[in-house]
Order: sequence, then C-alpha cells, then structure tokens
Amino acid sequence: MTIENTRADNFTSILNNYKAKIVNADEAVRCIKSHNKIIIHSNCAFPSALVEAMVRRKDELEQVEIYHALTVGELPYLRPGMEGHFLHNAAFIGSNAREAVQDGRADFIPIFLSELPLLYKNGRIKIDVALIHVSPPDEHGFCSYGVEVGLTKTGAESASIIIAQVNKNMPRTLGDSFIHVSKINYMIESDEPIKELPRLEVITPDMADVYSKIGGNIAGLIEDGSTLQLGIGAIPDAVLGYLYEKKALGIHTEMFTDGVIDLVDRGIITNEMKTIHPGKIIAGFVLGTRKLYDFIHNNPLIEFHRQEYVNDPYIISKNYKMVAINSAIEVDLTGQVCSDSIGTKLFSGFGGQVDFIRGAARSEGGKPIIALPSSAKNNTISKIVPFLKQGAGVVTSRGDVHYVVTEYGVAQLFGKCVRERVKELVNIAHPDFREDLMKYAVDNKYV
Ligand code: COA
Repeated sequence: MTIENTRADNFTSILNNYKAKIVNADEAVRCIKSHNKIIIHSNCAFPSALVEAMVRRKDELEQVEIYHALTVGELPYLRPGMEGHFLHNAAFIGSNAREAVQDGRADFIPIFLSELPLLYKNGRIKIDVALIHVSPPDEHGFCSYGVEVGLTKTGAESASIIIAQVNKNMPRTLGDSFIHVSKINYMIESDEPIKELPRLEVITPDMADVYSKIGGNIAGLIEDGSTLQLGIGAIPDAVLGYLYEKKALGIHTEMFTDGVIDLVDRGIITNEMKTIHPGKIIAGFVLGTRKLYDFIHNNPLIEFHRQEYVNDPYIISKNYKMVAINSAIEVDLTGQVCSDSIGTKLFSGFGGQVDFIRGAARSEGGKPIIALPSSAKNNTISKIVPFLKQGAGVVTSRGDVHYVVTEYGVAQLFGKCVRERVKELVNIAHPDFREDLMKYAVDNKYV
C-alpha cells in the first residue's frame, strides 16, 4: 500500500468520524442542563448559531452560568426575560455586556488574562460544556480555533462536553491552535460570516490631533528591533500609524488588529530581532475585519498560543526590548492606573495590561507604557487626577508603572519618588487642569 493510499484511507475515516458527529444546532445543545457552567468562544469567534439554539431552550434551563471574555455582537442570554435562566460571568466586559454588569444582571471576574484559562484547567471553575467555533477539519482531522485561540482552548479542553460550530469562513490559524475531531462530541455546520470589529475610527478632528500626538510620543520611545504588545482601545491602534520609519520590529501580543498587516507588507514588522520565537508574530487572538482573517489564514508568519503562555510575564520578558502599550481611564498623581472602571461603574477588565506591563518591565531594554489622552468628555474631565474616582479600581499599581504618555509628552515614573512623579505627571496633564493638580499636591504635602 502506498503512502498516498494510506493517507486517503485515513482521510476517509476522519471524514466519516466527522460526519457521524454532525447534528443540527437544537440537537447539539440538548446536552446542556440547568446549573451547568458553559464556556463560550470569545471575541470574534462567538458561535452565534449554537448560542441562539441554547437560548431557545431557556424555559427548560435554570441558572446556566456562562463564561467568556470580550465578545463581539449581541449576547442573546442578556435579553429581557433571560434572568434566572442564564447568568453571564464576564472576564472582560465588552460594550455588549456593560449595561447588564452595571445593572447587576451579569457578573464580572477581575482576572489577569494569563490566569483566566488556569481557572478552568485547575477546576476552580469546572466547565461542563464548551461552545466553540472552528474551521473545518484538515486532512489530518484537526480543526483550528481560528481568530481566537488563547482564551478558549484550555477551557474547552477542560470541559466534559465540547460542541463545535464548524464554519468554512473561520480562518485556519497556526500554532497551538487545533482541536482534533475525535475530541469533539457534537458538531454543527454553519457558514455565518465571522464577526468583525473594524479599527476604531477617530471621530472628531480634535481627537485625531490628540491621537496623532500620542502616537508620535510613543513612537519616540520605540527603538528599532523592539518587540511590541498592543493593548485594546483607540491608542494602541493609533500607534501603528506612526511606526513607518522603524526597522525590524517584532510582535508578541495578546491580540492584534488590521493595522499590523500594513507594517508587515512594508517590511517594518519582520520579527527577525525577536529573542523568543524569532521570525514569528505571537498572539492569542485577533480583533479585526475579513481582511485580517484572510491575512492570518494558513499564514506561517503567525503563531497563536494559549493566553497562559502568551501573557505569561516571564515569557514576555524573554523578548529583548519588549514594549507594552496599554491605555487607561485615569492615572493619579502617584502613578496608580485605573483602566477597568469609571468610578463604581465597571467598564472593561484587566485584560493583559498587567501581564504585559510586568513582562516588559523585566525585559532587557523593555518599556512598559501607559498611554492616554490627557482629558475626556471634550476637555471637561482630566484623566490625570489628584486621586482616583470613588470606587475606581487599580489595574496597574504605582509600583508597576514606568512610562505614562499623553499628547503633551512622556512622564517617566519608575524609581521616582512621589514628589518627582507629581511634577512629571502635571507636565503631561491638560493645561486647563495643571494648576489645580499642583495645588492638590502642595496641600497634601506631595511636593
Ligand atoms: N472619566 C470619565 N469618563 C471617561 C474617562 C474618565 N477619566 N476616561 C474615559 N472615559 C469615557 C470616555 O469618554 C468614553 O466614553 P464614551 O464611550 O461615552 O465616549 C469611554 O470612557 C471610553 O473611553 P475611551 O478613551 O474611548 O476608551 P478606549 O476605547 O481608548 O479604551 C480603555 C481605553 C482603558 C477603556 C481600554 O484600553 C481598556 O479597557 N483597558 C483595560 C485592559 C487593557 O488595557 N488590556 C490590554 C490588553 S487587552
């Protein structure tokens, strides 16, 4: 028997195995029971057909707990009338879950994303059923987790039952990104378009100017040969537009967006200077458009890994000149960074901010950066504040913070006393608020 014949036989058996598991969506979710804990594929991999089938069973189900991080699109289990049937636990609050969390109809788990998958793996959150969204099996029987590998793979592997929505539109991404059909209990076929999250558009010319200055200030900190992490929000996205003069950049990041494609095409992101995974972009997931999904499909330039690996500060620190760029809601005069809440209103989450800030701090030549506009709401609120709003949470502590960047410049806080920190931060605050900030600092004996 030739190798070709053996392969053909194997493939036929894989296909038969695959076809035997295909059911319709309503049949697939029949195994979900009241009080089950369900992990749902996060970000743009949200498997809508399976989720809709699950919520169609709401009258038969009580207290089904749903776990995931950011997702894109409507969350059917947060619709009116779902209370008591489903409870959502958000590990990162997206705009689709914000109102529910703030109203007390959904819960929030403050967690470093490097540790989220371990909650499932270690059984602290014992997952009964995983709803995942994957590419069709390849000739070896492996389906790819596609646009979101990092936050879901470990959780799905911890589940008692795995249900997969198989979609030919899901890119086949490479790395530690696969699940074999033999591990999946039920499969449905659904070719809905993969959800997209276009790059945040800068709405007003004022903000365009602010983002442009912040991008320029950050670019000034990035040396050729650096490896970058880009957090979530308008600023990390905007920075990409200011790197055209750089050389030999690398990417090791929790997530990336469409903006990376242009820098790869121009030969600016080469990954050649990376000291861990040289030549490769390393990420956990992407947030973007079909253009990005086509770029990552079967692309050996990019390796996706579990978030507990990508976001591990020790792994991050092995990158020489690691630059982490993350944003914030507000920063107080001592350097405490609030990024997940606006006062008592829970807004987003830790994400990988602390993981990457710490990893970059430990990297040789590394630079952990918090970047934010100096003000919000048409210059009526300063984002450099004397003290954090009542109820606001610290994500990055004042011990971890190194660089804070606004459109007015760069404050270097690491190793500096509070007196020096106040001066650095007041200098990059919006001019309308500098006098009041300094008065507070004087009144409280900071300076
Ligand atoms: N006081 C009151 N409101 C404020 C504020 C402040 N200090 N700062 C921001 N806001 C409001 C804005 O006006 C805006 O409101 P709107 O939507 O009504 O216009 C909203 O909060 C969001 O602010 P914006 O500056 O547009 O946010 P962004 O999209 O740039 O994201 C973070 C910034 C901090 C929310 C985001 O980076 C985040 O969630 N970070 C935490 C996790 C993280 O960094 N992870 C990294 C890897 S994923």
